[in-house]
Amino acid sequence: MANSASASFFTQAKALLLKNITFQKRNVKTNVRLILFPAVLCVLLFVLQLLFDTQLDKSKFKCGCVCADNRTQISQCPNSEKRCGVQYSDFFQAAMCPIPNPVEWPPLLQLPAPPNRAVRTGFLPFFDLPDASCRRTDSCPLSLLFTGENHSFALSVSEKMFRSTLSISDFGSNFLAGLAVNVLGSESKPERNNFIEPAFSSNLPIYYLQTNCTGTENSGFSFPSPTGENNEIKCALAKNLWRNSSTDINSELYKGYQRGNSEGQINEIVSAFDFLNSNGNRYNVGIWYNSTYHQDTEYTANALLRVPRSVNLISNSYLQFLLGPGTKIIFEFVKEMPKPETIFRLDISSIVGPLFFTWVILQLFPVILTSLVYEKQQKLRIMMKMHGLGDRPYWMISYGYFLVTSVIYMLCFVIFGSLLGLKIFTANDYSIQFVFYFIYINLQIALAFLVATMFSNVKTATVTAYIGVFGTGLLGGFLFKFFVQNISFPRGWIILMELYPGFALYRGLYELAQFSIQGNTRGTDGMKWHNLSESTNGMKAVLIIMFAEWIVMLFAAFYIDQVLTLGSRKGPLFLLKGFQKKSPFQKLDTQMQVSKELSQMEKPDVIQEKEKVEELLLEPTINHAILCDDLRKVYPGRDGNPDKFAVRGLFLSVPPGECFGMLGPNGAGKTSFINMMIGLTKPTSGTAFVQGLDIRTQMGGIYTTMGVCPQHDLLWDNLTGREHLLFYGRLKNLRGSVLTQAVEDSLKDLNLFHGGVADKQVGKYSGGMKRRLSVAISLIGDPKIVYMDEPSSGLDPASRKRLWSVVKHAKQNRAIILTTHSMEEAEALCDRLGIFVNGSLQCVGNAKELKARYGGTYVLTVTTSSEHEKDVENMVQKLTPNANKIYHLSGTQKFELPKEDVRISDVFQAVDVAKRKFTVSAWGLVDTTLEDVFIKVAREAQAFDTLS
Ligand SMILES: *[C@@H]1O[C@H](CO)[C@@H](O)[C@H](O)[C@H]1NC(C)=O
Ligand SMILES: *[C@@H]1O[C@H](CO)[C@@H](O)[C@H](O)[C@H]1NC(C)=O
Ligand SMILES: *[C@@H]1O[C@H](CO)[C@@H](O)[C@H](O)[C@H]1NC(C)=O
Repeated sequence: MANSASASFFTQAKALLLKNITFQKRNVKTNVRLILFPAVLCVLLFVLQLLFDTQLDKSKFKCGCVCADNRTQISQCPNSEKRCGVQYSDFFQAAMCPIPNPVEWPPLLQLPAPPNRAVRTGFLPFFDLPDASCRRTDSCPLSLLFTGENHSFALSVSEKMFRSTLSISDFGSNFLAGLAVNVLGSESKPERNNFIEPAFSSNLPIYYLQTNCTGTENSGFSFPSPTGENNEIKCALAKNLWRNSSTDINSELYKGYQRGNSEGQINEIVSAFDFLNSNGNRYNVGIWYNSTYHQDTEYTANALLRVPRSVNLISNSYLQFLLGPGTKIIFEFVKEMPKPETIFRLDISSIVGPLFFTWVILQLFPVILTSLVYEKQQKLRIMMKMHGLGDRPYWMISYGYFLVTSVIYMLCFVIFGSLLGLKIFTANDYSIQFVFYFIYINLQIALAFLVATMFSNVKTATVTAYIGVFGTGLLGGFLFKFFVQNISFPRGWIILMELYPGFALYRGLYELAQFSIQGNTRGTDGMKWHNLSESTNGMKAVLIIMFAEWIVMLFAAFYIDQVLTLGSRKGPLFLLKGFQKKSPFQKLDTQMQVSKELSQMEKPDVIQEKEKVEELLLEPTINHAILCDDLRKVYPGRDGNPDKFAVRGLFLSVPPGECFGMLGPNGAGKTSFINMMIGLTKPTSGTAFVQGLDIRTQMGGIYTTMGVCPQHDLLWDNLTGREHLLFYGRLKNLRGSVLTQAVEDSLKDLNLFHGGVADKQVGKYSGGMKRRLSVAISLIGDPKIVYMDEPSSGLDPASRKRLWSVVKHAKQNRAIILTTHSMEEAEALCDRLGIFVNGSLQCVGNAKELKARYGGTYVLTVTTSSEHEKDVENMVQKLTPNANKIYHLSGTQKFELPKEDVRISDVFQAVDVAKRKFTVSAWGLVDTTLEDVFIKVAREAQAFDTLS
């Protein structure tokens, strides 16, 4: 029937794959939810983008326009009548306009506002400053400072700086150019570009600086600027003040600065000049200027400085000093370079993408982790291993499976985003995106495998993983991003942070977003392969880090999984196995002594079993199903407790076709024994051979011929009974019709066939149904050895009877080791029994032998009214003086009568006699049961144990 050869790698892989696919089908809802998350997010971003686009379409964000007639609303204005351009725009709009011919603006000096202009104060030792009373009328003169090595030289140069009357040259339509010979200035704040000079579009006055402001010709006037505003132009008095040294100037400027003096007063100077060693042949000047203005907002930090005019001012004065007033350098205008139209677009997906998409992709991590930890928590991994699933197929299929699901997920995500036209996807090279996402999901799966080794509880793992996901996104978006953007932050630290995979993911997404934003505003492409070599592009480093980490984590996960999870079989240095020396009998001296003492106490049947094992071991081929050779398990004592001897030198042989029952009180070592036999723990010393294979070294081979029905059902809640059997059947190399037949038979045998039970999910099974399924799993695929740990616990009597007949039928061609607490079951099923107490066998034999050996008594029960109790006792005393009262409760008494002392007929006679004297309401005589034997053996062994 069944193929006895062990299942090949591919068969195992296929079995696991089919199981996983079924599992996945069950989880359709979860999967849909999983895929919906990125889809919904993409749609959300799309809608947001749409909203922003319609907003940005409004005239506010476009080059300014007016209608030709100047009255019609711009929205109703026909296109032919529209006049657009920088002259109709505000600052923001101007930045959008195409400007083929930028406007020429007169160069200006940066001036302090009237209330800030320098005046005489207590904290400065200079008396040439204007009197503070001027502040009340906003009429303070503007102060300029100068110094130099030659006072008279500096004085004569500086007095040529300002005129005493306003001069307006006739430049035709260009009124502003005509003003250029005057020294103009403004207190308005400069902008980043000079397409529009803010001084001419604000309502602050333009000043012309002069040495004299009296007279009607200096009373100021208005003129229309190119932006259509009416500008007021006013005279302001300029004062050149001599200072003895540049140190004096520094200190004066410093103290004039806000918070530079003790009184908190602002005392601002226009600018200051140091003539150094200049003279008639040499011209060396230092100029102080104030670049602090307009630094209050992030966006205008790099505003243009109004410095050039002060350079021209001083140079022009020097020229006039040398060549006379007829010679002039006129600084006529400043002008921005022309530019094409700018389209202002806000790319939402690239701006919020890095944060949201980090979440989307990280979301897979808890899913994978949960699935791995679930199999570990439910011990399903071990269960699969015990039924022959190798580590390699498990790893390959699990890994491949997660990889495929992750790839599908990512594909859905990218395709969906691209279809909606989200720039972060469409702008960047798809091959870079593919490589990036692919490496990351591989890393993520390896990480999940690694992290799974640290968790044994699904709930903890899930909660931790989700906290990790959200935390990583937030930290990435609000902390890590800040570090990346801050150029002064050491790059080494950033690389270090990127070692955390979540940040590496964030950085990669950030770079993609950055490229798509730039592409959008500059009209260039997004990230292409050649961009990877740019030093500012973190993508290359991220790819390298993730790839290296993936390899490392994969190995680490595999290694830890081998050492910890299945623990047991391989020492922590299993990779270096070749270098280790084996010394199996270390530290066992004390234990040997104990066992010697014990062996003196050993019963003849146990000794006989030992001799049989020794004999069988001498045979060249071991074809006994199970042969235990001095098997021992010691758990080292912790915290000062003595070592615990769970199994002390067990000899046992179980031939094929035998069902060996293992009885014993709780904690006797039965489970330790079974765990060693099924490969969960390693024996401390000694060994066992299963079908001739050594459990210490050949467990892999043993697994393929072994079936286990564990004490606690190890099942997947959302697979059906049939799917379980199909899976384990495939692992046992059954296929095609043989497999279907075996599953069918097994379902029928265990009463799981009717009423659609077989196709219900196991989560809906009753305890008894699960139990029967576990037994069916242990028997599928015709294993040669089956371990059943209390198979019938929790079953109703009918199911139990049915189970028994299955086990009876099954034992014909295989060896079964069965543990149970039900003596009835042991008697019904087992050919031989062993009672196991305190880690060693107390007796071995079939039920009859044991009863004969340990149960040499009858038990007589007599019930009378309580006043006749004494009479009953006397009667028993007459039967045999060796009788022993074992139970007494309100008229009911139980006596043990040695078999050699009484005959059954004597007992009947005595009771008949007694009945005539007083009322005997009930009586009975029974042979010893197995239960009595069990209790007796256990009690004796424990009594010995406390003595020793
Ligand atoms: C200072 O400059 C004046 C010209 O303004 C010149 O006549 C005089 O010699 C200079 N003094 C020195 C010490 O160089
Ligand atoms: C500058 O120097 C002149 C002459 O050397 C001196 O009289 C004056 O007090 C000095 N001014 C200051 C503020 O030190
Ligand atoms: C420089 O400009 C800032 C900003 O307008 C101002 O607060 C400060 O007082 C100025 N400093 C001087 C020395 O004028």
